[in-house]
Amino acid sequence: MSQRETWATRTGFILAAVGSAVGLGNIWRFPFQTSANGGAAFLVVYLAAVLLIGIPVILAEFAIGRRANVDAVKAFRNLDKPNWRFVGAIGILASFWTLSYYSVVGGWVTRYIAGSVTGNALAAPESYFGAVSAGVPAVITHAIFIAVTIGIVAFGIERGIELATKFMVPSIVVLLVILAGFAATLPGAGEGYAFFLSPDFGVVAENWQSILPAAFGQALFSLSLGFSVMITYASYLGSDDSLYADGLAIAITNTFVGVLAGLVVMPLLFAQGVPPGEGGAGAVFIAIPTALAELPGGGLVGQVIGVVFFAVVFIAALSSAISLLEAVVAYAVDTFGIARAPAAVGLGIAGFLLGIPSALDTAWLDWFDGLGVTLFLPLAVLAVVVFVGWIMGGEAVDELRRGSSLGVGPAWLWSLRTFVLVVVLVVVALNFNDLFLTPETGYYIVPAPLQ
Ligand code: PHE
Repeated sequence: MSQRETWATRTGFILAAVGSAVGLGNIWRFPFQTSANGGAAFLVVYLAAVLLIGIPVILAEFAIGRRANVDAVKAFRNLDKPNWRFVGAIGILASFWTLSYYSVVGGWVTRYIAGSVTGNALAAPESYFGAVSAGVPAVITHAIFIAVTIGIVAFGIERGIELATKFMVPSIVVLLVILAGFAATLPGAGEGYAFFLSPDFGVVAENWQSILPAAFGQALFSLSLGFSVMITYASYLGSDDSLYADGLAIAITNTFVGVLAGLVVMPLLFAQGVPPGEGGAGAVFIAIPTALAELPGGGLVGQVIGVVFFAVVFIAALSSAISLLEAVVAYAVDTFGIARAPAAVGLGIAGFLLGIPSALDTAWLDWFDGLGVTLFLPLAVLAVVVFVGWIMGGEAVDELRRGSSLGVGPAWLWSLRTFVLVVVLVVVALNFNDLFLTPETGYYIVPAPLQ
């Protein structure tokens, strides 16, 4: 059998992982989650979740991946724990599930780049969103977006994903910094910052049952955890470097980009005089163009900023979609011996088909997103935490020792076994209650039938 692929450089791995982490979650999902959950109060809980849960869990996924050196299902066979293959399987399923609707939103973004060039997206934001977000146009842009994703994944780790993300990630950061600088000059900026940055802890205390799971879900989704993606990416590591350093670099960059995106989005929204209150999937797509249209300069300034903004979102979305498809493709390649290119094409098309309901009706998209983040993700994270904490145990600590003399491995392991596990269990319980025991929020109530 031919040699398994590896990343060409350590930076390449880090950038690819950052590319996965930084995505629609940071720019599209984060603002509406923040606004739906009390603004800065949510931000604080989110940051705590990244630090206390996200970092231990990213190290757990890295330890599995690098130790096993194979896709996220076969990994458990390589670790001599074949009965635990379901852990990787849930993550792969979550990736496939998420890819389906993620690509629909990626398609909207593609359309919005064009819409900013022509100015149509800014002229009548609400009806534009209505026209492009659902129905045949959305199915077409969904197809385009997933085709680009397939194209990159088909080229493989080094020549596809690594090469692409090496350009994509730095562009995202540079362009966002420019946009944040611009946003700072807007009249509503101060209010936007206040909403985003000055927390009201009373809000957290009162609403912790909804804020905790939402912030937890957002933190893990944003770090691409619970999707077998980080297991898969770490499995392509060929050399032993410090996973602590890599994990930390990824978490910090991802958080930085999320906050940076907030510093762009919040002032833009407040400049328009309305807090980003309407929530839901459309928030960024309707409110941002509305705000852009009102910029001085006869619409042209708004159009230019719009093109840059949606280009950033597009690149961020693409580098994440790549990782979602890769987790699934790696499984087909490593476990079933299917060649990479046909696997990418076949699974990409399957993801496209699963995404059609979401492309036809945004209610379905919300439903897919909700179920993925509140059900699959916490269950997959729970499985990873139990597995690494209690089953892999010392072997995981040994794995982190390769490439690092840092002595925090045992403390990390105990944090997984106790604190992290407890928080994950609380989140699973709260979500379970929401999903299965509360009629108003329950996902057993599926969206109204497609019109
Ligand atoms: N982290 C990505 C984002 O924030 C989404 C993602 C989740 C990508 C899980 C891969 C795996 O948009």
